[in-house]
Amino acid sequence: MSAQEPTVHLTQDQIDHYHREGYLVLESISTPEEIAWMREVYDRIFAQKAGREEGNQFDLAGTDEEGKEAALPQILAPSKYAPELKDGLYRVNTAHIAKQLLGPLATVGGDHAIFKPAGYGAATPWHQDEAYWNPMMTYNSFSLWFPLQEATLENGCLWFVPRSHNWEVQTHHCINNDPRIHGLEIDRIDDSQAVACPIPAGGCTIHHNRTAHYAGPNTSSTPRRALIVGCGTPATHRATPRVFYWNDAKETPREARAKASAEKE
Ligand code: NI
Repeated sequence: MSAQEPTVHLTQDQIDHYHREGYLVLESISTPEEIAWMREVYDRIFAQKAGREEGNQFDLAGTDEEGKEAALPQILAPSKYAPELKDGLYRVNTAHIAKQLLGPLATVGGDHAIFKPAGYGAATPWHQDEAYWNPMMTYNSFSLWFPLQEATLENGCLWFVPRSHNWEVQTHHCINNDPRIHGLEIDRIDDSQAVACPIPAGGCTIHHNRTAHYAGPNTSSTPRRALIVGCGTPATHRATPRVFYWNDAKETPREARAKASAEKE
């Protein structure tokens, strides 16, 4: 594949909006053709249960028992199971956007895929992404949320609380207070100022690692597919340690599978 040039160049207004509000909406970072093949790849790796045994495919919002229909299927590192996802215009644009928003040292990091099945895909509760991460580190990063079809209020587009990236990491708990569930929910939030961000196919939203965000359930008749790509500068060690006790309390089947799989190697 020949090297592609980025097609998206942020304006100063867009860069300022990201730093002031903690999020950004872009109308187009890809092409209809690219989205069509990505949808095929996406559906294939979910159907194949790619990563299940290693703990990389699981139910984000449920207890994840074997054979139980997942309410919110997630794959960590989908590009490990479908390396072609690392190619393409959306990825070239993502890398370019990262340097524009976070500086020359920013690179594209890990990806994950969250699939909201038609009709019953569960809501993704309010959370800050950093609440999942290592409390000993300081981050300068964002998540680029890239749906593989239009994202609407009905199928679960993202919502943000503007300027919440200025908050410290708030306390979180496992969804339903069930330590078997991987997904986190912020303990308390004022979402009266929250902004919904519906976007066309090929668009994306970008949010800072502390921006509070939410996605509704999928009440539409078609699946909602989203690929999330993390970008950042290298994380640094914190001078003042923190404790994210909500992660220490988890006992998820996902972790058990990851541990069993690592022991086999
Ligand atoms: Ni998130």
